[in-house]
Amino acid sequence: MIVLDTTLRDGDQAPGVHLSAEKKLLVAQRLDELGVDVIEAGTAVASGEEARAVKAVASAGLKAEVLSFCRIVKKDVDAAAGCGVDGVHLVFPSSDLHIREKLRVGREEALALVLDSVDYAKAAGLVVELSAEDGSRADPAFLAKVFQEAGERGADRFCVCDTVGLLSPEKSAELYGFLSKKAAKPVAVHCHNDLGLATANTLAAIRAGASEFHATVNGLGERAGNAALEEVVVGLKVLHGIDSVRLDGLYAVSNFVRVATGFPLAPNKPVVGENAFSHESGIHVDGIVKNPDTYEGLKPELVGRRRRIVLGRLSGRKAVEMKLKEFGFQAGGEQLERIFSEIKSIGDKGKTVSDADLLAIAHSVLTGEAREKVRVDELVCTTGNTITPTASARVTLELNGEKKQVFGAGTGDGPVDAALKAVYSALGESDVKLVDYRVEAITGGSDALVDVKVKLRRGDKEINSGAVGTDIVMASVSAVVKGLNALL
Ligand code: KIV
Ligand code: ZN
Repeated sequence: MIVLDTTLRDGDQAPGVHLSAEKKLLVAQRLDELGVDVIEAGTAVASGEEARAVKAVASAGLKAEVLSFCRIVKKDVDAAAGCGVDGVHLVFPSSDLHIREKLRVGREEALALVLDSVDYAKAAGLVVELSAEDGSRADPAFLAKVFQEAGERGADRFCVCDTVGLLSPEKSAELYGFLSKKAAKPVAVHCHNDLGLATANTLAAIRAGASEFHATVNGLGERAGNAALEEVVVGLKVLHGIDSVRLDGLYAVSNFVRVATGFPLAPNKPVVGENAFSHESGIHVDGIVKNPDTYEGLKPELVGRRRRIVLGRLSGRKAVEMKLKEFGFQAGGEQLERIFSEIKSIGDKGKTVSDADLLAIAHSVLTGEAREKVRVDELVCTTGNTITPTASARVTLELNGEKKQVFGAGTGDGPVDAALKAVYSALGESDVKLVDYRVEAITGGSDALVDVKVKLRRGDKEINSGAVGTDIVMASVSAVVKGLNALL
């Protein structure tokens, strides 16, 4: 199975996404470590910055083959060759609609243009993957003819694109089955997700004979996106026993791409979404405690993740007990009842109960005192269009039985960054790292309530914390301080 990742080309075409050359190189290195066979690095002819990116990826010494996207235009092939790529992803309009509207020619002239470009790229010593754009709406017999003639001229692989995402699994099996049998070289499937069927269509094509697929990390791409790499490779393994990339590296790569692109993921996104391996309801957690197979079709470890028990409105005692054990607390009888009822009352107010909330409740129930090792007594933050965002903090610290007042200051990319740096600088040396920060507006308008969620790590202990408020700076500081109090 050949895996072509197009996060850096089709994924980068998603509205709101723009990866710099430096970021593209970092993503390409991670994709290479994951084991993808081919990386489409970008479109060399598009701009100087794109050419710089394609060149950087092509000269990084990756194991993967590196391609640049090209139209059937000589200057596109020249630009790709100038970047030192292994080959070109040569794309031609293939449906009558695209041939007529985009090329303004007939099928025979389109075929001649394709063959000219294949000759030109092969003469430059490049691998040629020839893709039929809008291929799912083209005449399959025409595609077979193009592939046969292009193959005779040296094209190495073919691909049919479901450009507008209108295939169904049945039609996909029929189309890719037909072309895979006809073509003398590998045929790839390239699906878009307009009907939420990109993964299903990709798997159906592979079952029918396609020997390569195109995908993007997190399903990034035009409109509703492309087939998601993580979904397709897990589907291949779990449903059909087909090995492709290193599955246990998927979550790390997904996170890396999420942060690099700033493109948020739906919590319920299969495989890589925040909730994909989380359980909250009492019935499910009870089943999971008895045997994880009851409600876990996929094992979290398969894709480099851990199971997460989330506490909230529907949690049962088992979940609370299990979560407490995870953090090294032993509670039973009346103490467990008190912790349980406090959690329920937070959940009943419609709030999620973070790890930091649970640890604060457990600490106060088990020891009779609130755990407040870090308290922010004063925080001042200044921002504007003529100054660097700056913050200072006065903090009370109570560590190793000693209580003291400390001060910190920081500048940052914005007021939140500056405020968190000020708090951290007041702590002095701290081994608690902020590993994830997300913010969401719960209500609309400039006075919206924002929900800040953070993840903090100390050694091998990782916890979630969060806070809600109308002031994004103070909500962020509260979320982090709650987390610090749980971990220190
Ligand atoms: O979806 C598509 O048609 C494509 C081609 C341009 C390769 O991404
Ligand atoms: Zn595409």
